[in-house]
Amino acid sequence: MLTQKNISLKPFNTFGIDVIAKEFVAVASIKELVKVLDTNPTDILVLGGGSNMLLTKAVEALVLHVNLKGITEISKSENSVRIQVAAGENWHELVCWCLDKNYGGLENLSLIPGNVGTAPIQNIGAYGVELKDSFISCEALNIHTKTLKTFTKDECDFGYRNSIFKQALKGQYIITSVVFELSSKNHHLKTNYGAIETELNRSGIDQPTIQDVSKAVISIRNSKLPDPKVIGNSGSFFKNPIISLSKFEELQTQFPQMPSYKVSEDAIKIPAGWLIETSGFKGKTFTSYGVHSKQALVLVNHGGANGTDILNLSIQIQNAIKFIFDIDLETEVNIL
Ligand code: EPU
Repeated sequence: MLTQKNISLKPFNTFGIDVIAKEFVAVASIKELVKVLDTNPTDILVLGGGSNMLLTKAVEALVLHVNLKGITEISKSENSVRIQVAAGENWHELVCWCLDKNYGGLENLSLIPGNVGTAPIQNIGAYGVELKDSFISCEALNIHTKTLKTFTKDECDFGYRNSIFKQALKGQYIITSVVFELSSKNHHLKTNYGAIETELNRSGIDQPTIQDVSKAVISIRNSKLPDPKVIGNSGSFFKNPIISLSKFEELQTQFPQMPSYKVSEDAIKIPAGWLIETSGFKGKTFTSYGVHSKQALVLVNHGGANGTDILNLSIQIQNAIKFIFDIDLETEVNIL
């Protein structure tokens, strides 16, 4: 375990922002993790896949790269299997591992950037499925007591892009592994998200397998979302806002074409992508950064942008949405 000084974090964040970390250490075991915490009790920035953060300045804190690896089958029943996956495993590689073994449940979450350990923090989701749907528990290290605790699904308090690790326990625990329950046969496919059905029909598939669903998701994502290896980005920069029914009805008189999804009797979710596109930002480019041309929810680094420029653009977008729709857009990405 080697502590490096003054290294660039560019390869460690999917936005590709070039900032310096004063100190950087990668840990490959829980023992190493505890050792680092013992010598650096506070001021630590935990870095997984770096796929949900915008770095706006040099990092003074010790950057701790969680590089724990391993996938283990821990139990099997007639129709299902439980696997324990170490936090440092790449998310999409895990999905591919499952598809290879014909284990179902994660196929709709194909191609999401990032690592397994950070996935529960924001309860990653896409195409009608969220991490919580196959999540059983996770193991996490308390950064103060340095003891491991198992969190059940209920204890994680999952919500839309949310969990206890983003709320009451923010910065208190480092997730070290996650247990998932997957189907090993009679898979329950979730193809009702419009675009998946369209994509499967287009390919002439009427009895899809989990591998077909994954291919459809990959094809949809590739058509809309930029590949972070080519264009720096952090996926959705904002959350889809949830507004009250009365507010929605009021807005509908002015914007009858506004798309919406009912969340509960009094709560309506509005696609932030539509709000941003309608405000005229979609595809806008400012020197080295801008708003993606195919999905307005994604801010992009075309190369060499700095985090502050992207942050300022996001504030400009938030102000415009507030002015035009009187809606507050919350960021999904962590700003550091
Ligand atoms: N829309 C526009 N213009 C745009 C983008 C979207 O008008 O530029 C409208 C359209 O009406 C479209 C609707 O928004 O039908 C929904 O768009 P999409 O299916 O692309 O989904 P989203 O709500 O924009 C969410 C997630 C994505 C996830 C997709 C698919 C959030 C914040 N984002 O986006 O997650 O891939 O659904 O399930 O919930 C991520 O979190 O990084 C991410 C990419």
